[in-house]
Amino acid sequence: MGEGLLLKLFRVCYLTTTEFFPLQTIKVEQNVQYVCPVCGGLLQLHQSGKNYSCQNQHSFDLAKEGYLNLLPVQYKHSKEPGDSRQMMIARRAFLEAGFYEPMAKAVAMMIDANKPKDQCTRLLDLGCGEGYYSRKIALYCNHSEQIALHGIDIAKFAIAAAAKKQSNARFIVASSNRLPYPDQYFDVVLRVFAPSDDDELKRVLKPYGYLLTVAPGPVHLWQLKEFIYAEAKEHTSESLLPQGFERLGVQRISYKIAPNAQQRVALLQMTPFAWRANESIQQSIHSLSELEIETDFILTLAINTAN
Ligand SMILES: C[S@@+](CC[C@H](N)C(=O)[O-])C[C@H]1O[C@@H](n2cnc3c(N)ncnc32)[C@H](O)[C@@H]1O
Ligand SMILES: [Zn+2]
Repeated sequence: MGEGLLLKLFRVCYLTTTEFFPLQTIKVEQNVQYVCPVCGGLLQLHQSGKNYSCQNQHSFDLAKEGYLNLLPVQYKHSKEPGDSRQMMIARRAFLEAGFYEPMAKAVAMMIDANKPKDQCTRLLDLGCGEGYYSRKIALYCNHSEQIALHGIDIAKFAIAAAAKKQSNARFIVASSNRLPYPDQYFDVVLRVFAPSDDDELKRVLKPYGYLLTVAPGPVHLWQLKEFIYAEAKEHTSESLLPQGFERLGVQRISYKIAPNAQQRVALLQMTPFAWRANESIQQSIHSLSELEIETDFILTLAINTAN
């Protein structure tokens, strides 16, 4: 596993102090601040602990799984925006089988190497899906009790599944185009294969906060691509950073996996290839006795030098 470092990561500790409930093991953060998605006012948790509301009486109930839906219907562009339930289930099955675990470990190690010692780090997993990376951060980061984990995704099914599996993180349904958090709220934003809005991302990140993105490398899932495209092309690995960010380091992780027939189908379903692969392609991928597939991830760590 591992095709080596493109650049050595710098160990930097620019993160600023934040106050949290003192934690021994990772616990859900108390007194979280959310911004009302309707009027922009701060939301307060009701005494009952069951809902949040703003001064203008816009109210949002906590779901039984513990997540909050801060995506008002007027900002939904479809009935069920984001990944479908089927994609979410496929992604969870594939990820839980451990195929991306080495990459997830590397993500946790990057966070570990850069989070300040003896201080708390508030981390947002943007487009978190069903929460795999938040769970792995809680598992692999040293002193994870010093991390306050938050995750957002526009897909309600995914957030419900994430919240159900991890009660020590705060998950909300929201769009990355309108993040319902105050300015400069997070020390770290993690974005794994997920879309984002540059201005919003920068707004919620503290000055000198970190952005860690994971994107496909040139040959990611190459053998699947060969089934789907007459002429498979390499991904362009150049990752453009939002303005005001300085790249600190890049790590490329590449290794082969050998998912079984069912897992190959799950992999297809959780990627944009699902739209391209017709029935006969799906059949061919399923019916192979074995198939080794290249993974290729580019992890980019950048710092917010704006503000
Ligand atoms: C490829 S998946 C990655 C999920 C997760 N980061 C992972 O790697 O397991 C992309 C995710 O982005 C979410 N998404 C798409 N558009 C979004 C938006 N505007 N705001 C927030 N999330 C969005 C989808 O619902 C989906 O869960
Ligand atoms: Zn309001």
